[in-house]
Amino acid sequence: MSDSETQAADAELGLSNPSGKSLEHENVEVGEPKMRARDVDVFYGDKKAIDSVSIDIHTEFVTAFIGPSGCGKSTFLRALNRMNDTIPSAKVTGCIELDGEDIYASGMDVVQLRARVGMVFQKPNPFPKSIYENIAYGPKIHGLVESKTDLDEIVEKSLRRAGLWEEVKDRLEDSGTALSGGQQQRLCIARAIAVEPEVILMDEPCSALDPIATAKIEELIDELRGRYGIVIVTHSMQQAARVSQRTAFFHLGNMVEYGHTSDIFTNPREKRTQDYITGRYG
Ligand SMILES: Nc1ncnc2c1ncn2[C@@H]1O[C@H](COP(=O)(O)OP(=O)(O)OP(=O)(O)O)[C@@H](O)[C@H]1O
Ligand SMILES: [Mg+2]
Repeated sequence: MSDSETQAADAELGLSNPSGKSLEHENVEVGEPKMRARDVDVFYGDKKAIDSVSIDIHTEFVTAFIGPSGCGKSTFLRALNRMNDTIPSAKVTGCIELDGEDIYASGMDVVQLRARVGMVFQKPNPFPKSIYENIAYGPKIHGLVESKTDLDEIVEKSLRRAGLWEEVKDRLEDSGTALSGGQQQRLCIARAIAVEPEVILMDEPCSALDPIATAKIEELIDELRGRYGIVIVTHSMQQAARVSQRTAFFHLGNMVEYGHTSDIFTNPREKRTQDYITGRYG
């Protein structure tokens, strides 16, 4: 497609911001999307779990995926860093780009891609290694460091950014699994940050956490906004409203509606969205 055709298609999808003016409630200009998905289908065997989804992911704001259980949120999220490749029956079609580069192209280095597009899961999954090693592992295997001093610096910086440094600085040699659930989840976020990703995908990152730990993660997400493209899947509409500026509502494999979070929750265009946010199903 030519640039003007792409723009026209984006406008039709409601994805573009042709005027380039400041976002409502936010004093930021919207640049090129970090990731761009077009007409993405995902199949498990013959069963279509995602049907022709198109969406842009920006670094300027957090994007929330909401929708009832089984609608395909995790499936689509996994398509964004090729985690579905690890499921033998899964097949992805359509186009997904990171900075304009097709992530499903045959030359794409998938290990590198997953460092650029990191993932945080529902259940915190620290490696059974020390807190220090949990963070240091990625930068080491990706060759981001030359010396122990570099590595120490990355470990400290990542833990600070994840809001965990003060709590763990005196026990870096303790096992990551010895931390509380909320601390483990921040450790996993620190681990994702340590390899300098461009996008962080979070699949219900707070669902195993208490309200205080949840509040910490939400604060952290807000602090990370602008630096990384962030996508969060959540079953909590309050959470989506608190942490995201854009929301996509999924239902039965379709992305029914995408827009400003405030609009999705107060003035949705689609009846199915309205039914979901008012608790008629899900
Ligand atoms: N590994 C798999 N093999 C086969 N089918 C799968 C697999 N993973 C998911 N599915 C199916 O794909 C559909 C979407 O599932 P998915 O896990 O993406 O939903 P979800 O929106 O994340 O749900 P939840 O909110 O419960 O996490 C469901 O019908 C599910 O049964
Ligand atoms: Mg899921």
